[in-house]
Amino acid sequence: MSELAGERVLVTGGAGFIGSHVVEALLERGARVVVIDNFSTGSRENLLRYEGGLGFRLIEADITSSLWPSLFAAQQDEPIDRIIHLAAQTSVPRSLVKPLEDIQINQVATLQLLEFARCSGVKKIVFASSAATYGDLEAEQMREDMPTFPLSPYGLNKLTSEGWLRVYALHYAVPAVSLRFFNVFGPRQDPRSPYSGVISLFLQRALLGQELLIFGDGRQTRDFVFVEDIVQALLLGCFGPVSRGESINVGTGRAVTITRLAELVMSLCESPSRLRYAEARAGEIKHSCADISMARHLLGYQPTVSVEEGLSRTLEWLQEGMGEM
Ligand SMILES: NC(=O)c1ccc[n+]([C@@H]2O[C@H](COP(=O)([O-])OP(=O)(O)OC[C@H]3O[C@@H](n4cnc5c(N)ncnc54)[C@H](O)[C@@H]3O)[C@@H](O)[C@H]2O)c1
Repeated sequence: MSELAGERVLVTGGAGFIGSHVVEALLERGARVVVIDNFSTGSRENLLRYEGGLGFRLIEADITSSLWPSLFAAQQDEPIDRIIHLAAQTSVPRSLVKPLEDIQINQVATLQLLEFARCSGVKKIVFASSAATYGDLEAEQMREDMPTFPLSPYGLNKLTSEGWLRVYALHYAVPAVSLRFFNVFGPRQDPRSPYSGVISLFLQRALLGQELLIFGDGRQTRDFVFVEDIVQALLLGCFGPVSRGESINVGTGRAVTITRLAELVMSLCESPSRLRYAEARAGEIKHSCADISMARHLLGYQPTVSVEEGLSRTLEWLQEGMGEM
């Protein structure tokens, strides 16, 4: 497929979980890709099969300390047309321990990329934001016109970055869009991921017949969205017409309780595992589910993978990995 031939896309954080899927989708569609990543949570292995290939370049660099030299290096071959900005410090607890570090990665680096986009005439920048921008709304579904009250430096810096995208779109005509991801899951996700690491963890433990630990009463809900649908939204955001710095939810619009998730995992793995409930974790929000009307209308986004199918595809990937061990 070469529908994106002629496009050169910078993917920051391209060695990570979501990033490596985006890189794959871009290359498959004929785009040329340059990745900037410092491998702090991502891994070179995720991109190994593309290294040395035509139309792919990997720059190992930290976006907080060496962004500009990396951008110049990336521009040396040919100009960057579009940016998908995924590189981030993704741990909420870490952001609480190190708020200054978080602002450098999750806000200042975004601003630097916007400045680069302004100076070099980039056609579009897409920013990976988060449902953490809402805080604990206690709403059945979160809509983009609801108030935002982030409860952590991570959520606050994501929200402020969204604001920067809007300002650059408004004043400097930098086409931009922010996508607020809910709980993304799928192959290559680190079980320590603060979002849906619980899925990789449950699958691993269920396969080994170990008990699945649930914090709280298990009735808390999350909107688990398969990584392929996130890639769909990122490509629609990157190559579609939305460009005024809009902030758009990306999830499935369906909430699943953690107990139900654990049951689905156990039945899929035909596991004798048992559930164990422990004290709820402090600060954990009870419900999180996206209203995706705006994504449907503005992006033409349509989630295609159910939680059940996503779980079974993630399980397949885990089993392949276990086979190689
Ligand atoms: N996974 C989710 O459920 C979820 C939910 C909401 C938002 N997000 C956002 O999506 C994006 C991708 O998340 P992910 O789940 O793939 O996480 P990830 O940790 O797998 O990916 C982040 C990537 O950024 C790189 N990185 C981190 N700091 C860097 C730095 N200073 N310089 C260069 N590279 C750096 C990491 O090495 C990694 O490859 C992040 O912006 C995250 O905040 C993810």
